[in-house]
Amino acid sequence: MDLPNKVVVVTGASAGLGAQFSKDLVAEGCHVFGLARRVERLDALESELGDAFTGISCDITSEEQVTAAFTRIVESVGRIDVLVNNAGLGKFGPADEVSTEEWDLQMNVNLKGVFLATRATLPTMKRQNAEAGFGGHIINIASVAALLGNPNISTYNVTKFGLKGYSEALFKEVRQDGIKVSCFYPGSIQTEFFDEAGIPISANPMTPEQISSSLIHVLKTPDNYLISEIVMRPLRPKG
Ligand SMILES: NC(=O)c1ccc[n+]([C@@H]2O[C@H](COP(=O)([O-])OP(=O)(O)OC[C@H]3O[C@@H](n4cnc5c(N)ncnc54)[C@H](OP(=O)(O)O)[C@@H]3O)[C@@H](O)[C@H]2O)c1
Repeated sequence: MDLPNKVVVVTGASAGLGAQFSKDLVAEGCHVFGLARRVERLDALESELGDAFTGISCDITSEEQVTAAFTRIVESVGRIDVLVNNAGLGKFGPADEVSTEEWDLQMNVNLKGVFLATRATLPTMKRQNAEAGFGGHIINIASVAALLGNPNISTYNVTKFGLKGYSEALFKEVRQDGIKVSCFYPGSIQTEFFDEAGIPISANPMTPEQISSSLIHVLKTPDNYLISEIVMRPLRPKG
């Protein structure tokens, strides 16, 4: 895909990976619609990135808010070329200490949010394929926790294993509609994720810039060439 003038939706754009993706996609000439709840952070990104970035207040777990956000995007620019399902969080701890609220929150953000945003995007991408022979690209940000179960992250594991399954099914379902689906499985990245997760970050994590450079590479591949999965790891996590 040639990135200049493409319309990209990034969920969880207010921090970490989503903010970095937004900056790099704008630098590539895209118009980015960034969804998140913390409006003041989206406003700051708008000030930094200018007209090419539009922040939209949206709780990704709310069907009503997701519908409103995607309706606004399609009504204003008429297309969605890329969806980056990035919003997500972990609440780590022993299985017998996970509260029902923590379970529900992780399921709702990491899985229901992806479902709602993807469902809201697919009709537009299918229309684009019917009109121009290529629909678009959906990127799902999973984790190495989609590939490996580990102590104290059981709920997060469930959500990311689930996202892997959703991505594989979706990839096979919509490839003939000219829609690419790629799933990323990163290890530790230097973001605010660990504040929420409640554990210290590893000594030598990857950076958001590094993950974002892979996103740009994957998006720029030729239309008939799909990198469907990619695992990213720090070489020396302990430094
Ligand atoms: N950091 C890591 O080591 C790591 C490793 C592998 C995978 N990942 C995955 O990478 C993705 C991005 O995480 P990050 O590391 O960038 O963490 P982060 O810095 O904590 O950012 C998380 C983003 O998700 C958004 N978000 C959370 N709940 C939301 C909701 N209900 N509605 C809308 N947006 C919501 C937050 O925005 P608001 O709070 O403003 O709504 C924020 O922009 C996640 O899916 C995470 O699981 C992270």
